[in-house]
Amino acid sequence: MTEDDRVIGGSAQDDAESSIEQSLRPSSLATYIGQTALKRELSVYIQAAKKREEALDHVLLYGPPGLGKTTLAMIIATEMQVGIKTTSGPAIEKTGDLVALLNELNPGDVLFIDEIHRLPKVVEEMLYSAMEDFFIDIVVGQGPTAHPIHFPLPPFTLIGATTRAGLLSAPLRDRFGIVGHMAYYDTDDLEEIVTRSARILNSPIQEEGAHEIARRSRGTPRIANRLLKRIRDFAEVSDQHDSIDKPIVQQALRMLQVDEAGLDQTDVKLLETMIKFYNGGPVGLSTLAANVGEETDTVAEMYEPFLLQKGFIKRTARGRMVTPLAYEHLGITPETN
Ligand SMILES: Nc1ncnc2c1ncn2[C@@H]1O[C@H](COP(=O)(O)OP(=O)(O)O)[C@@H](O)[C@H]1O
Ligand SMILES: [Mg+2]
Repeated sequence: MTEDDRVIGGSAQDDAESSIEQSLRPSSLATYIGQTALKRELSVYIQAAKKREEALDHVLLYGPPGLGKTTLAMIIATEMQVGIKTTSGPAIEKTGDLVALLNELNPGDVLFIDEIHRLPKVVEEMLYSAMEDFFIDIVVGQGPTAHPIHFPLPPFTLIGATTRAGLLSAPLRDRFGIVGHMAYYDTDDLEEIVTRSARILNSPIQEEGAHEIARRSRGTPRIANRLLKRIRDFAEVSDQHDSIDKPIVQQALRMLQVDEAGLDQTDVKLLETMIKFYNGGPVGLSTLAANVGEETDTVAEMYEPFLLQKGFIKRTARGRMVTPLAYEHLGITPETN
């Protein structure tokens, strides 16, 4: 399977794909489905900041990939009626890169830093004063002529997104006034997302079809939209289905190797590896990742949270263990010894 064929992870590669992605992205809080508590909270802070004509407090959004962090960051800027500059932790290599970004901000603007846990340490340290008191101290010149310049900044809102809140240093985390934990979506919310996306794509869909996609999308809007696009292709080439109904969803998901619970091949491989080679665990994450040929980070960000949430694995002090539920799901009888 190539990176592009994968149902989870990766990002849209070609332009056609990414313009579809764009059209599916909600652009207001009102059209952003689910995450109700977080939306309600943000809506209050946004209204209050606008009323006071101040920049919104800094926002940290964390949660697994594909849950709508980038989308929400863009919506916040839209709702605040301010500009947004987008970058990512690894893209800011030197303090100079950060200075250049900050220098372009207008009062009230949003600076969105994706993967903020991957900021170089020196850049992170420069952010502290920028976030807290809206200034940075930069050193110009070299050797004996080097001298610091105090550089005031316009008030701005930093929105940081991360899949790994645990990797953020405490001083950085503490400088965010608003912290939003993105949770996996429930089936009802995902069904609404699938239905909305199908409407945008002009793709007729039955309620039962949307429900089946929702149920098997790993609680993740990005996956729900991806599956929808693939299944739409199946429905379009089939002469027996003039809309996306439950049977075509089931048939397509079988071919895409997405199982009844929405687990993909890697999920299943992870569980089977734990059972067959480690007698159900405990086993360490990096050992497990090596066994299935994935990066440890990928397993930690994408697979483990979902399997934990589904109750298929649990964390112990000595590593991850498979639960009886996973044995049952895979139809394997636990060995007793
Ligand atoms: N709450 C939502 N309502 C509708 N669609 C959503 C929602 N959250 C995410 N999406 C869809 O899922 C895709 C992935 O969201 P994105 O913001 O890129 O996730 P993240 O940045 O967390 O990885 C978006 O293109 C968008 O179409
Ligand atoms: Mg993102």
